[in-house]
Amino acid sequence: MTDPILSVRDLAIAYRTGRKESVTAVSGVDLDLYEGQSLALVGESGCGKTTLGLGLLRLLPGLGEITSGSLTYRLKDGRRADLLKMKKEQLRRFRWNEAAMVFQGAMNAFNPVIKIGDHFADTLRDHSDGKKWTKAAVEARAGELLETVRLDPDRVLQSYPHELSGGMKQRALIALAIALDPQVLVLDEPTTALDLLTQRSIVQQLHELRKKFGFTMVFITHDLGLAAELADRVATMYAGRIIETGSSRDIFYGPKHPYTAGLINAVMPVKGARPALESIPGYPPSLKAMPEGCAFNPRCAFATAECKRDRVPLELLTDRSLAMHHAVACLHHDQVRLQRPAHGQLASVAESENANV
Ligand SMILES: Nc1ncnc2c1ncn2[C@@H]1O[C@H](COP(=O)(O)OP(=O)(O)O)[C@@H](O)[C@H]1O
Ligand code: SF4
Ligand SMILES: [Mg+2]
Repeated sequence: MTDPILSVRDLAIAYRTGRKESVTAVSGVDLDLYEGQSLALVGESGCGKTTLGLGLLRLLPGLGEITSGSLTYRLKDGRRADLLKMKKEQLRRFRWNEAAMVFQGAMNAFNPVIKIGDHFADTLRDHSDGKKWTKAAVEARAGELLETVRLDPDRVLQSYPHELSGGMKQRALIALAIALDPQVLVLDEPTTALDLLTQRSIVQQLHELRKKFGFTMVFITHDLGLAAELADRVATMYAGRIIETGSSRDIFYGPKHPYTAGLINAVMPVKGARPALESIPGYPPSLKAMPEGCAFNPRCAFATAECKRDRVPLELLTDRSLAMHHAVACLHHDQVRLQRPAHGQLASVAESENANV
């Protein structure tokens, strides 16, 4: 297997909360993403998914800052580039050409006073690497992309954002994000706030777009059903760290972290008997008062005194290649089992073509 497209090592991200105060929202993140893979970042609200996603493109808001670690990409021309060393102009060329983001909340992501067609023109012209984008060239490219996501270019390019439904806006945003053919696409909660039918059509179109354009995908979701449908690999986050990572099959059939198992146990099956759902007791910790040792220990049924001592690093459980490994940050992972086999939505999808990476 070739080099990863994206390599993250020991990444930490903090937000300034006062003149001399800050909170660490993401820490110790190691991640390798290989060409064509699709990775789901899952976890409860507030665990750091959006912060990490924004960090991957250095798109953090003003008060957010990458405080340590490294973030390297293999560019389209084969060179490796350290994102953290890029200057403003290099970053401008990098974004949308090499990696792009679909931000959370399609409803508000477009500028309301600019027509969709002008969003395409601005993005193509501002970020393109030397190519002259004439009006006809913009229309041709935008038309091709909009048709791929099953939107009518003649109507949509002339529309203001408020004239489109939520699902149409989300599809237009995805089309816009891949306008310059990025290698990596990061999507933050791409189906949240959309009705079920629209969610289905977005998922279907993401499958089709990946097949057609071949981009590598990181998508952020708190919806495990969506992760099971779209992901080759899954990384569970808890309190700013990745605490388990593996193929969809590893995660949905044999999770080894009690927190991942708890998330799966809490999902209602779509068919068959409806068992009493187990929720995970307690709440995620505050960033200002992280428990010592494993951050999950106050909520964990397997916790021992040892778990409260030191941070628990990810341990490799498999001798597969790094592209396909299963790793977990838990001292007692050998005791962890699902309450019942993966079922319904999760099981059927994890067994599909996505699971065999
Ligand atoms: N601009 C900000 N300033 C201070 N703290 C923030 C800011 N944005 C996010 N956080 C904090 O960082 C943590 C992770 O947030 P986020 O990345 O949005 O999580 P998720 O996407 O998993 O819900 C949360 O505790 C959140 O309160
Ligand atoms: S390390 Fe200990 S506290 Fe943390 S998840 Fe594993 S058993 Fe639970
Ligand atoms: Mg978020």
